[in-house]
Amino acid sequence: MERTHLVLSSGFTFDYTNLYGQGLVTQADVAAIGLRLIAAHQAMEHMRSTGEIRGHLSKDGAPEKVLFSQLPYVQAGHLNSPASIARLKEFGQSLRNKVDVVVSFGIGGSYLGNKVLFDVHCGEFWNSKGAEERQGYPRLYFSGNNIDPRRTVELIGQIKYEARLKAVHAGPHDGTYRAQLVVISKSGSTLDTMSTFMAVYDALHRETPAIEVQVVAVTDLAEGAGETLLHKLAAEQGWPMFSVPDGVGGRFSIFSEVGLVTAACIGFDIDAFLAGARAMDEACRQEDIWRNPAMLNAALKYLAAEKYGQDIEVFMPYADNLKSVAEWYVQLLAESLGKRTDRAGREVFYGRTPIVAVGTTDMHAQTQQHQDGRKDKVVQFVKVAAWENDPVIPDVFPSADKLSEISGLRLSQALDAAREANAAALRSDGRFNATFVLPEMTAYHLGELLYLLALSVAYEGELADVDAFDQPGVEAYKRLLGPMLKQHSP
Ligand code: PA5
Repeated sequence: MERTHLVLSSGFTFDYTNLYGQGLVTQADVAAIGLRLIAAHQAMEHMRSTGEIRGHLSKDGAPEKVLFSQLPYVQAGHLNSPASIARLKEFGQSLRNKVDVVVSFGIGGSYLGNKVLFDVHCGEFWNSKGAEERQGYPRLYFSGNNIDPRRTVELIGQIKYEARLKAVHAGPHDGTYRAQLVVISKSGSTLDTMSTFMAVYDALHRETPAIEVQVVAVTDLAEGAGETLLHKLAAEQGWPMFSVPDGVGGRFSIFSEVGLVTAACIGFDIDAFLAGARAMDEACRQEDIWRNPAMLNAALKYLAAEKYGQDIEVFMPYADNLKSVAEWYVQLLAESLGKRTDRAGREVFYGRTPIVAVGTTDMHAQTQQHQDGRKDKVVQFVKVAAWENDPVIPDVFPSADKLSEISGLRLSQALDAAREANAAALRSDGRFNATFVLPEMTAYHLGELLYLLALSVAYEGELADVDAFDQPGVEAYKRLLGPMLKQHSP
């Protein structure tokens, strides 16, 4: 079978062999939306140069700019400027070998991207490593991404335990435990974020021996009538601040100070991450769909949904540390494209439903359904081509033939074989799937992947004629929440 690939000069690849061709999305399908693709591409160019997206309004109903495509370009006068990036890096450096723990509070767009950066850079065991292995960067915990009493109490308990341990082992050295709380909220008053922040802030302040607590606020820094509660509080308390910029919705904010503040706290390579995003943006400026990864991805998935009923996207990286990319993508796809009306106000109930899966884990859980269930899914794999550490399976039990047979393989080869088998089995039954290939799991390639996905939903918004940058549906429960909280108050 001929493979159909779009390969960038970095090696980043979109393999759409199992999404495009006979029995899949066809050349004729793509040709039929040719004029709409041209219009979508022009809309993206217009967005880049002016920040305007036709029909996009803020939640207050006022015209609002869409500026995420500016974020990879670090320039004076841009949302990310040399000065703002330098300030972030200084903040990160100021924590090294001084602060013991960072707790990052946030939810939705103020959490999901930050978790991706943490997982890719730090992995699962960062918080159990010694300071030297962390190169002096602090431990980092997340909170606020749920209002869960048990998790909150256990987090407080863990921090207190670490503080006591430090005091006990300090000897003649300074045993003061230092905690940096980073509170991230664009609106500045989100229940989940602020309730857990207050609980942790209070508990740490009451601890003896004293824990030194510092706070940084990341919020919309507008002044006057629209000033956020968090901004006001930070000004009153003298907390340093970073910005959630105007024109950048939560689900696109990983490239702004929202995501980059976490990057700074752990020593993640901000420059390489933004360079990857920038390279992807440049690739996506090409008018030719076969050279433009975001336009191609959006068009094939849009057509798969609209023409062939494949309106579920299972996002399935073959890497534990990329599971949070799938979780980030859930918000991006769901909030951007799940829309009741089109831009003319007609009911369309558009949207593709995202599902999180991880290979190989979910081959033992979800794959039965992907292979034999309703034919309504595109499975989007992510492959990492080269792994930094990649053990060979040793021949520990030579008398066990089945185990001996797999010895000599690298773990990544076994992982790849599993992914390829999964993709081929789906294809053999006419089931749509595609693969993004990251040459390595680095900040640069992560920047490419995340930016590609963000720009794809912007293209798809144009194709489906829905506003990809609002989220009116989440206001429905919010209107009920205030009165309900009052009913529950003592
Ligand atoms: O995408 C969004 O806008 C939401 O998911 C928000 O990020 C989330 O609700 C958190 O909002 P805030 O940053 O205002 O606390």
